[in-house]
Amino acid sequence: MEENAITSVSKLIILKLGGSVVTVKGRLFTPEKEAIVRLAEEIAQSDVNSLIIVHGGGSFGHPVAKQYEINSGYRDSSQLIGFSKTHQAMVTLNRLVINSLIDQNIPAVGIQPSSCIITKSGRIQVMEERPLTRLLRMGFVPVLYGDAVFDSDKGFAILSGDQLISTLAIRLNADRIVIGADVDGICTADPKIDPSAKLINHISLSELKKLQPKIEKAKVTDVTGGMLGKIMELIPAIEQKIPVVIVNAAKPNNICKALNDEKVVGTIINKGEDVAKPN
Ligand code: IPE
Repeated sequence: MEENAITSVSKLIILKLGGSVVTVKGRLFTPEKEAIVRLAEEIAQSDVNSLIIVHGGGSFGHPVAKQYEINSGYRDSSQLIGFSKTHQAMVTLNRLVINSLIDQNIPAVGIQPSSCIITKSGRIQVMEERPLTRLLRMGFVPVLYGDAVFDSDKGFAILSGDQLISTLAIRLNADRIVIGADVDGICTADPKIDPSAKLINHISLSELKKLQPKIEKAKVTDVTGGMLGKIMELIPAIEQKIPVVIVNAAKPNNICKALNDEKVVGTIINKGEDVAKPN
């Protein structure tokens, strides 16, 4: 096969592990160690044979990125150390995730988005995907993350794990996207503040677009847009008929079930008919 051809790997699943699941959000540089180990076990138990994992920043990447205003782009040289610290925080978290996967005998290999992606005004412009597709074809599990990246307009920017999964899913023609969040899925209201909020099991793209203004905004430090931003980033992939399932990864077995395409509590989003119904 031609070296730079866009390669589609059969039945590829892209899994996002939210920063709020793998870290203790609000407690600086604190990993959620038990969850990281359990999620690695669930991934090992699943039947998936082609997988890319992307994890978020949580209390590792977001607070430092915010402190140095990395997402606003380069303003002066005092931010350079902030870029380094943001990237290094993500490398540290990535190492923890990868170690847990390797402990489960999963051949995980980290890929630094800052080394293979350049954004333009925050949107992915250049992506060298050949090492990634090679890893996949050989049976490795590439593990990427939201990162501080170089930007052709702004100097640098923050690339969210959500923009990354959407782009990877489209470019590699993924079968499905699985989002491991800290909530059960998309609800009719914010479940963290409104007890009458009901989970939406299944929603079409057009219904999702209508719901957008209502979707909660994150309450803690999130330089990449909270829940609303996350869902919006998925729209291009859903437009390409790649279904997305959102599950609560803080609850045991959900990720294993979602990876296996088994029935699981959560929200399925696809480009289908209007079928949204609360429970
Ligand atoms: C953010 O990635 C990465 C950095 C701040 C460096 P995400 O936006 O995907 O992280 P979470 O899942 O919201 O924590």
